[in-house]
Amino acid sequence: MSSFFLFFLLVDPVSGFNLGVGDGQIQCIGSERQALLNFKQGLIDDYGHLSSWGSEEAKRDCCKWRGIQCSFQTGHVTMLDLHVSELGDSNKPLRGKINHSLLELQHLNYLDLSCNDFQGTLLPNFNGSLSKLRYLNFSNVGFTGTLSYQLRNLSSLHSLDLSYNNFTKVENLERLSHLSYLETLDLSGNSLGKVSDWVHIVKNHPYLTNLHLRSCDLATIIPPSNSRANSPISLSVLDLSSNNLSSSVFQWVFSLNSSLVHVNLSYNQLEGTIPSFFGNFCRLHTLDLAGNNLTGSLPVFLEHLSVCAESSLEILRLGMNQLHGSLPDFTRFSSLKELFVYGNQLNGSFPETFSQLSGLVVLDVAGNQLTGSLPDLTMFPSLKKLCIFGNRLNGTVTESIGSLSKLEFLYASHNFFEGVITEAHFWNLSQLQELYFNDNPLALKFDSDWLPPFQLDVIGLMSCKLGPRFPKWLQTQKNFSVLDISDAGISGPVPKWFWDLSPRLSFLNISYNQLSGMVPDLSSKFIGSPGVDLSSNLFEGPLPLLPSNALSLDLSKNKFLGSISSVCKIIGWTLNFLDLSGNLLSGVLADDCFRNGEQLIVVNMAENNLSGKIPTSVGSLPMLQTLGLRNNSFSGEIPLSLRNCSRLRFLDVSYNRLSGKIPAWIGESQLELVFLSLQSNEFHGNIPFQLCRLQNIRLLDLSINNISGTIPNCLQNFTHMSRKQLDNDSNTYVYEFSASSGGFTGRYVDRAVIEWKGRAHTYEKYPQLQLLRIINLAENKLSGEIPGEITSILAMVGLNLSRNYLTGMIPQEIGQLKQLQWLDLSRNRLSGDIPASMAELHFLSTVDLSYNNLSGRIPTSTQLQSFDASSFAGNVNLCGPPVIRNCPGDERPQIGPTNDDDQDNEENDEFRNWFYGGLGSGFSIGFWGFLGILMLRPSWRRVLFQFLYKKGTGSS
Ligand SMILES: *[C@@H]1O[C@H](CO)[C@@H](O)[C@H](O)[C@H]1NC(C)=O
Ligand SMILES: *[C@@H]1O[C@H](CO)[C@@H](O)[C@H](O)[C@H]1NC(C)=O
Ligand SMILES: *[C@@H]1O[C@H](CO)[C@@H](O)[C@H](O)[C@H]1NC(C)=O
Ligand SMILES: *[C@@H]1O[C@H](CO)[C@@H](O)[C@H](O)[C@H]1NC(C)=O
Repeated sequence: MSSFFLFFLLVDPVSGFNLGVGDGQIQCIGSERQALLNFKQGLIDDYGHLSSWGSEEAKRDCCKWRGIQCSFQTGHVTMLDLHVSELGDSNKPLRGKINHSLLELQHLNYLDLSCNDFQGTLLPNFNGSLSKLRYLNFSNVGFTGTLSYQLRNLSSLHSLDLSYNNFTKVENLERLSHLSYLETLDLSGNSLGKVSDWVHIVKNHPYLTNLHLRSCDLATIIPPSNSRANSPISLSVLDLSSNNLSSSVFQWVFSLNSSLVHVNLSYNQLEGTIPSFFGNFCRLHTLDLAGNNLTGSLPVFLEHLSVCAESSLEILRLGMNQLHGSLPDFTRFSSLKELFVYGNQLNGSFPETFSQLSGLVVLDVAGNQLTGSLPDLTMFPSLKKLCIFGNRLNGTVTESIGSLSKLEFLYASHNFFEGVITEAHFWNLSQLQELYFNDNPLALKFDSDWLPPFQLDVIGLMSCKLGPRFPKWLQTQKNFSVLDISDAGISGPVPKWFWDLSPRLSFLNISYNQLSGMVPDLSSKFIGSPGVDLSSNLFEGPLPLLPSNALSLDLSKNKFLGSISSVCKIIGWTLNFLDLSGNLLSGVLADDCFRNGEQLIVVNMAENNLSGKIPTSVGSLPMLQTLGLRNNSFSGEIPLSLRNCSRLRFLDVSYNRLSGKIPAWIGESQLELVFLSLQSNEFHGNIPFQLCRLQNIRLLDLSINNISGTIPNCLQNFTHMSRKQLDNDSNTYVYEFSASSGGFTGRYVDRAVIEWKGRAHTYEKYPQLQLLRIINLAENKLSGEIPGEITSILAMVGLNLSRNYLTGMIPQEIGQLKQLQWLDLSRNRLSGDIPASMAELHFLSTVDLSYNNLSGRIPTSTQLQSFDASSFAGNVNLCGPPVIRNCPGDERPQIGPTNDDDQDNEENDEFRNWFYGGLGSGFSIGFWGFLGILMLRPSWRRVLFQFLYKKGTGSS
């Protein structure tokens, strides 16, 4: 990740010493031609890069071959440059070995073979050869073995780049000290963790100006003794990013004196305040300290920095630290072009003088706690990137934003901007590419014939008000790759033109609107691994044809009708997420339907009319975490192949016609299971004791089946629920997934549906979901006693054993279940007294003990007496309030609740709010997936950061 943040410096490779040849008056030297041909022999040239290299008469002049230059005067080969260009050719390397004949090119001064593929070969030993070589670049070629002596004699070398190889062992860097003219050294991406003397590099190379040791596992700093006295240090570029350096590195940086121009210490483990000495670096141009754990006040640090660097500083990156204070006045930094302070703890509002930074190109203050309104933006004529998401900015968006004629990226999601955005806000934004206003209470209203000055690549307007008509201006946008207009209050049919808009579309989210009509064939409308979310609309007709290489497909909660069978064609190997729940789909899934879904994490087909067997091929989904088939007509047994899905956490097959015994193997192979509901099927036989091994289980629902035998005496093994102190496991029902190919990250929150007293309640938010710690075995044929051990399931919130044939007493220790909120033991054959400890169940909000053979006085507590007498009905020998019958010795009946404890009442109300406040409305039950997919472009780390501010925190 961090590499996206690094700065790049252009190294002038040739430094003007290479003249090349003109029109070939000077022919290349025969022996050198032969050496080059031998070198070619060792290579595998899959793409014909070297087709100009040959021994034929027409190709004799090797000075004209691709990648070769010769000396104008002598004809010797001076340059060999076959690096794989980062642009275009990046997947077309040369392969093979480097033939030693290369070392015969004694006049070579420039050698660049970077980014080719010499995987597993060794760095050639240059001893005694190529003494004129000044520039050597073997970056990212796959060398392995040791790096030590090979370069010893390259005494003219000025620039050495061996970055991103696979050297298994780098010995002390002492060996490099022979390269006394070295100016540029790049060993990034090689493990130097064992090299303790790396700081000496600087001392030993007096001409060194550029040092790159990014991602080298550097940890220790052994500060060289009296280094300041030692050498005239001219280091100007220092890149030590993405290592494990601690703040002690500052001392060393300080000792390098003040020649530094570019300093990158980002993504290390720096702590504490930022030292003030950076302010003495009078040539400082770039300072990158992002991604550390730096603390202190930003205004104070800037005060220090302004001592000398205030006129030179152009780029300041301090993102992802813990800096606090308000946004300072940057006016003094007259050259500042890029300011990154995202992901800190800055507060306050934009200072008045902020606008005087007229040269600013990038302003990134995202992910802080900034308040107030946006400053006047007309003073930033150069601004290309404005990144303010994830703050608490409010008020209307200033129309001055429309004057930013260079603006390309506007990231303003997750603030409290309100009011209306009109044409005026965009009038001069002809360069705008990415527009994010997600999650602001804003309306966007344009004339119907508005022609925007831009062609957007990314349109992120989730939860803005765009409707009720379909936004017509989108028709002018022909080339976007990402469109999110979910939850935008749009209703009615999707216009035909919409489906043909952009040939580059890879992410589409139009969910949570009221869009209607049929969806056309979408199978060839997307590129890459698309994410498509059409959920929670009114779409109808048959399931549309969809791309088979999608990352995620959410068509849930619509009115799609007809056969499900076509879905098997779209389950390709890229698919992570598939949600078709809450439609009107019917038919049978082919047994091999899931054959190709090796990446599927979530499969949700609940709330349809699917029938037949659950396909055996679910067993070929090794990544599967959620399988939701609730409320269909599946029959037969749960396929044994499901055993293979060892990551399964959420299995809901309730309300189907499944039969057979409860598979004992669930307790052996599905150890991650959190939610298991077999409710309302035709399962029979005993509850297998193996289920007790489900240590993570939160909800076990076997109710409404034909299960017989006794309740196993091991339920206390449900360790999660048996713990008094609950872990802070807020992620139990939340999964995140991503696909680098598509550049998206998505998250999924399970929705649990709980039926209680004939009503279904949907839980899809935490902490609600966290509270689901329930055992429901109701409406079976269970007999025997309630095992006393059940009272060790200390964190249990709901227990329903009603409508069985249970006998014996209610366990005396039931009062230990302090968190119990619902208890239903009705319609069994329980006898004896109600245990006195029940009076301690202060959170109880629903209790039903009716139709048993209970006897004696109902224990007295504010809770128990507050319930309706019907909770105790059908127990002829119970007495005392709230039932009417007096216990022997009582004087007169007390009827109704005697509750005067307001505190408890409030707690109760809170619980009721919680309980009935689930989003599922009454009987429109569902177990639905919720996908808050994010619009991420792989190259924007800070947008990933935006993810933190997405639905997860914003959905409640
Ligand atoms: C480096 O080695 C690792 C494992 O040994 C391998 O996966 C990787 O592809 C290699 N990388 C290069 C650039 O050779
Ligand atoms: C950052 O520093 C704080 C306070 O010193 C510490 O609690 C926290 O663990 C640190 N975080 C990291 C990622 O090092
Ligand atoms: C913006 O928020 C501040 C507090 O952060 C508040 O004082 C101010 O009234 C708000 N302005 C608007 C227009 O809502
Ligand atoms: C319950 O847990 C105990 C201790 O961890 C273990 O010995 C026992 O086998 C478990 N019982 C069942 C039925 O899994």
